[in-house]
Amino acid sequence: GKGAAMVTAVAYRLAAQRKQIDAALAPFLLSLETLREVKNKMRTELEYGLKRETQASATVKMLPTYVCGTPDGTEKGKFLALDLGGTNFRVLLVKIRSGRRRSVQMYNKIFAIPLEIMQGTGEELFDHIVQCIADFLEYMGIKGARLPLGFTFSFPCRQASIDKGTLVGWTKGFKATDCEGEDVVDMLREAIRRRNEFDLDIVAVVNDTVGTMMTCGYEDPNCEIGLIAGTGSNVCYMEDMKNIEIVEGNEGKMCINTEWGGFGDNGCIDNIRTKYDKEVDEGSLNPGKQRYEKMTSGMYLGEIVRQILIDLTKQGLLFRGQISESLRKRGIFETKFLSQIESDRLALLQVRRILQQLGLDSTCEDSIIVKEVCGAVSRRAAQLCGAGLAAIVEKKREDRGVDHLQITVGVDGTLYKLHPHFSRVLRETVKELAPQCDVTFMLSEDGSGKGAALITAVAKRLHNVGQK
Ligand code: GLC
Repeated sequence: GKGAAMVTAVAYRLAAQRKQIDAALAPFLLSLETLREVKNKMRTELEYGLKRETQASATVKMLPTYVCGTPDGTEKGKFLALDLGGTNFRVLLVKIRSGRRRSVQMYNKIFAIPLEIMQGTGEELFDHIVQCIADFLEYMGIKGARLPLGFTFSFPCRQASIDKGTLVGWTKGFKATDCEGEDVVDMLREAIRRRNEFDLDIVAVVNDTVGTMMTCGYEDPNCEIGLIAGTGSNVCYMEDMKNIEIVEGNEGKMCINTEWGGFGDNGCIDNIRTKYDKEVDEGSLNPGKQRYEKMTSGMYLGEIVRQILIDLTKQGLLFRGQISESLRKRGIFETKFLSQIESDRLALLQVRRILQQLGLDSTCEDSIIVKEVCGAVSRRAAQLCGAGLAAIVEKKREDRGVDHLQITVGVDGTLYKLHPHFSRVLRETVKELAPQCDVTFMLSEDGSGKGAALITAVAKRLHNVGQK
């Protein structure tokens, strides 16, 4: 009768809806075959970055860091560390004790970097940084100390020594003018001079991946890789000097900052980029750049989700077909919201409450779909990141000429630490794609701060750099 017809109509509508949603999310499902392809392509790009003839145009820049060894426990002293480029800007005082009672003590203060400073002039940015340092020194009562300083600066820098780093280009949310092509250590020194209130001995400029590797290396000498899965995505690892063609010398090893976020900037993974990825890229501060990072890191995952939700809403599949003011806002889905929405312990009602907080009025059905979308996007991110990491560990295994490699990866980043599934999927993918490698993942405790101090300590001991 009529009732049955209505039920059929509803069932039909639901099935049609399902089909459309599945179609939108289908490009996010990557087969094992595709992931293998990504691993192989990453391997190719890594090699381009290392070779003299190809490195200038390589998308994975493979930047030498002049960090040539992991700490050995004899490091000691008091250091300042700066951490710029992650979720927060921080200034730290790090006290390292060596010997049998070796330990690391840290005091830190977090400072906001307002958007207008992140995207203002370089001078304003560095003046602000020095202002924060002044506040911190005041607060700790150590203004006259002239401590050695390690600067964790989490952007691509071309280095010619441990205490020099020319910014290749901003990534993530930064866009301060007059910095690209400049030495960030010089810019910091000049800002300190402008303020004319205290002096610092800048000893090292360090990428966050390197700080993370060093921090974990302090506990586990097998740690030769550092991974950040946070606001941005990047990896560093210890490479044999003989393979680094642009650095003189063939003995020993040096840490390479891969800057793998730029993987795909030559179009080599365009076959897996969706129209949503392209929209996110076009609306970003650096269109066309950091394509892999934009598919794998916290700063962009929420944006991909938002683009899908807008599309599904336009198709009438969500939010009663109404694109709200909030859904139009860039950046509403921060990593922490994705993590909450995807938590298995969360009842759907709570998902709706989170969406409510973000200004999105949802039905129960809507909340199911939103959760599904988040899941598809974060799962792909973890798999892609795993495919990249598999390329690195496989390279290291081959270079060492062993059948089985045991290696530790130091990891940090909000996506890895806060997301309920990202780390597991990442680990599973590495296992699947690099079965001959036994990879241990070690969470770093504040790699950017502690690592910068350790590197500074090693640099002071080995080269006695700084003191200018
Ligand atoms: C971006 C930066 C890189 C950093 C990463 C993680 O990819 O370019 O230097 O390591 O973010 O913070």
